[in-house]
Amino acid sequence: MPAAPEKLRVAFVCLGNICRSPLAAGLFRHHLAARGLADRVEVRSFGTADYHVGDPADRRTLAEAARRGLDLADHRGAQFTAADLAAFDHVFVMDKGNLHDVLALDADDAHGHKVRLVREFDPEPDDYAVPDPYYGGPDGFARVHDVLDRTTARLAGEVARQYGWVEAGADGVSPGGGRG
Ligand code: 4NP
Repeated sequence: MPAAPEKLRVAFVCLGNICRSPLAAGLFRHHLAARGLADRVEVRSFGTADYHVGDPADRRTLAEAARRGLDLADHRGAQFTAADLAAFDHVFVMDKGNLHDVLALDADDAHGHKVRLVREFDPEPDDYAVPDPYYGGPDGFARVHDVLDRTTARLAGEVARQYGWVEAGADGVSPGGGRG
């Protein structure tokens, strides 16, 4: 098992940093807090593009999150850089485009092992991409919320297990979820 740094640094990355990754970060924080692990992990989100640097999350993301009791009002957009790639312990991307763009920052091929498609942790991974809801209707935002809620719940359990923060064999799934 890898030694846990004093504070584990986890980044979620999408394209614009206003729809998917702010939600992933908020939900992951929620699932860590439910396990009493909030203080052990710094959770941030970024976009590969600079379109929305300094902007709040998309109002449709904010509305769907608020409807389910999650407050993302503090979010402000930030662009992911090579320095971030070096600094974070784990980088979870939403789709293959993000994966390509993040790995393109890794000039020395030193950090690729830290970068994963987040839906590798989804019990129902479909095509392993979190679909970009930006150009679609409200259904897309509800679906992305469902996907990221169950995926980050599983991820919180996986991180806890990987760093020895839970008993071996303890489950990483929220009530009602299955093991897998
Ligand atoms: P996100 O969605 O990558 O999930 O934040 C998008 C947000 C904005 C744009 C594209 C995707 N945009 O082109 O501005």
